Amino acid sequence: MASRSEARLNAALRTLATTDDQKQAAETANYLEMRALQLGDFDKGYMKLLEQLTVVGDVSKDVYEARFNEMASLPDTYFTIVFEDTSKSKIVATAALTIERKFIRGCGKIGHIEDVVVDKQYRGFRLAVRLLEALKQIAKDCGCYKVILDCTEAKIAFYEKLGFQKKEQQMALYF
Ligand SMILES: CC(C)(COP(=O)(O)OP(=O)(O)OC[C@H]1O[C@@H](n2cnc3c(N)ncnc32)[C@H](O)[C@@H]1OP(=O)(O)O)[C@@H](O)C(=O)NCCC(=O)NCCS
Repeated sequence: MASRSEARLNAALRTLATTDDQKQAAETANYLEMRALQLGDFDKGYMKLLEQLTVVGDVSKDVYEARFNEMASLPDTYFTIVFEDTSKSKIVATAALTIERKFIRGCGKIGHIEDVVVDKQYRGFRLAVRLLEALKQIAKDCGCYKVILDCTEAKIAFYEKLGFQKKEQQMALYF
């Protein structure tokens, strides 16, 4: 049975399927399917795809599945979308949204977009735009008052095209 987050995700994706963006991309590549991340996506190269973004580390299938199930048990918090190239059973793009619950802003919520990556061979087909539009819609539907993300200088222009504005600075402390 589909989890609550998967149901919400798929509802947002169905809405987006009627946009010009999706129609245009479907004409370009009708074997690309946008959907929620699934347990079986480890075998379809999901972790390999993330290696095109950052250090993934040595994550076995068991460890991936345990983390997937942990996140699936919080269906209103974690939303991860992928594009699968169904002609190759391969995950070729992904982006994730985490909903943070706050006390401020009348116990408001913030959406955090993370782990945006499109396989090198599939860039330029507007897949990232479609993933991010879907996540923005989900964040809105979840009642978030804003969505935020971190990126390098080189990606600012990309996110500005999606309506994001540069704000403040990021601080980090690694362990
Ligand atoms: C950044 C990335 C996700 C873009 O994916 P993509 O599917 O090729 O992007 P799209 O085809 O949806 O691009 C949409 C628009 O953004 C533009 N764009 C893409 N990358 C851009 C960049 N680095 N800077 C400025 N504009 C960019 C495209 O030209 C296109 O513009 P248009 O609407 O005027 O035609 C992809 O290059 C990638 O995975 N990079 C490596 C991982 C990474 O850096 N992720 C982001 C972490 S913050």
